[in-house]
Amino acid sequence: MKNGKYTVMKFSYYLILVFFLVMKTTASYSAIFPKPVEFKRSEQILQLPSEVSISISGSECERSAQFFNAYLKKYYPFLSLNRIEDSSSADIILEIKPSSRKKAGAYRIKSDKNKIRLTGYNAEGLFYAVQTLIQLLPVDPDHNKLEIPVCAIYDEPKTEYRSMHLDVARHIFPVDYIKQFIDYLALHKMNIFHWHLTDDQGWRIEIPEYPKLTETGAWRDATIIGVYPGTGIDSTRYGGFYTQNEIREIVNYAEDRYITVVPEIDIPGHCLAVIASYPEFSTDPSKEYKVAETWGIYNKRNNVLAPSPEVLEFLETVFGNVASLFPGPYIHFGGDECSRKWWKESAKVQTFMAENNMKDEREVQSWFIRHTERIISDLGKRSIAWGEALDADASSETIIMSWKNDKAGIEAARKGHKVIMAPQRYAYFNHKQVKEEHEPSHPLLVTVDSVYRFPLNPKVLSKREAKRIIGASGCIWTEYYPTTARVEYAVFPRMTALSDILWSQPASGSDFMYVERWAKLKERYNLWGINYSNAFWEVTP
Ligand code: ACM
Repeated sequence: MKNGKYTVMKFSYYLILVFFLVMKTTASYSAIFPKPVEFKRSEQILQLPSEVSISISGSECERSAQFFNAYLKKYYPFLSLNRIEDSSSADIILEIKPSSRKKAGAYRIKSDKNKIRLTGYNAEGLFYAVQTLIQLLPVDPDHNKLEIPVCAIYDEPKTEYRSMHLDVARHIFPVDYIKQFIDYLALHKMNIFHWHLTDDQGWRIEIPEYPKLTETGAWRDATIIGVYPGTGIDSTRYGGFYTQNEIREIVNYAEDRYITVVPEIDIPGHCLAVIASYPEFSTDPSKEYKVAETWGIYNKRNNVLAPSPEVLEFLETVFGNVASLFPGPYIHFGGDECSRKWWKESAKVQTFMAENNMKDEREVQSWFIRHTERIISDLGKRSIAWGEALDADASSETIIMSWKNDKAGIEAARKGHKVIMAPQRYAYFNHKQVKEEHEPSHPLLVTVDSVYRFPLNPKVLSKREAKRIIGASGCIWTEYYPTTARVEYAVFPRMTALSDILWSQPASGSDFMYVERWAKLKERYNLWGINYSNAFWEVTP
């Protein structure tokens, strides 16, 4: 394993070096995350009055205007924002000029000493322009005026799938915090919230036809203490779930921010909470199952579904509910870390295999994947699954999410699948960020520096194959993140670095490493009240 301190120190020297190299060109540096494609600023300043007037060019601008208004109210309460009709006398102009020649999400910003004009080439683009405007505002809101640099910006996203994942099975977070998390994604111009809703340690989504999923499956009697295998177990009942109304509320909230929620229901492994609720779906219904109280157990405790008509009906019902709650195009069905030994050891499954002419347990996994893909496509949605699904004959229509490293992503792209990259050494933000973390975390090290080395375009792929990589996702598995403050500590600043990788054009990390840029980011985190990790800034050469 790499030495964390050395990496961070090396990185800091590098930062100082880059700082001196770019001193001469700071006039054009941008403290905006993710970095815009083109950013030009002059020495001139646009001073906004305390009563800011804003004009919008139509109802499609509404979501962007409302987001901006809510943002100003929260962080600059001394200002008021007044809607006016006449754009020629407005301080801020929001407009949409549809253009089929521009990428979805592209926008332009142009300001002079009197006004700033935000032009989206579609509605989404305008929303991203507002995110950039937000980052042009001063980070110290204590004074009663707002000065922003006079500038010209053109910007567009590099990738179409810009995602952050959150596991709510190991620990669950309140609806209001999920909304806050979605706001952070929006502020980083990310457009996918990957919501990991079910796992061995808890089922978190209300399914009326199967009430025991949330009566039983959403609760565990205790939780392991410390890093797995742990130093003991507590005696606190833990759990909760999201009602269908809460889910609709969150999905609408995300939609107002141009964010698609991708729900993940992890099958046929990671299903201990399901079989604790409905043992008849397990490979051995004579046994008792309990919602998991510890982590990392898939090989040690039976947590797989058994293939049967009842289980298929269960999957049809669950995914039917999911499809009606989540209007986005994707459903993630997990498919990872499924231990086949439980099928091998089960007389019931062996009989099923003989009746269906299956020669090994891999075919059982294929059976699950094929049926789930069909259920999801019949619901008009596109499947996403983790890399392991490739080994079980996933259809080329299924989008593969490569998590162990980039190998599954490379193989999938060669086979014609679309691919989402999430290799853990670059994208798992539950992994520690310095060698000695004060609180428990996963032992692999992922620094900001690691994120900037993200293998988004593996060189071994042809151009045509590489095009199948539609983007990437940061992930946070919450075994060691029981509170929202801990989640933020893990996510920031690494997710901010990931937003550069996903959105911005430069190929090399050094293009993002301006000292002032990162200093400004920290001030902005303070304004937002984020509990970030200081590891990146703390180390001095
Ligand atoms: C995973 O980390 N098992 C997707």
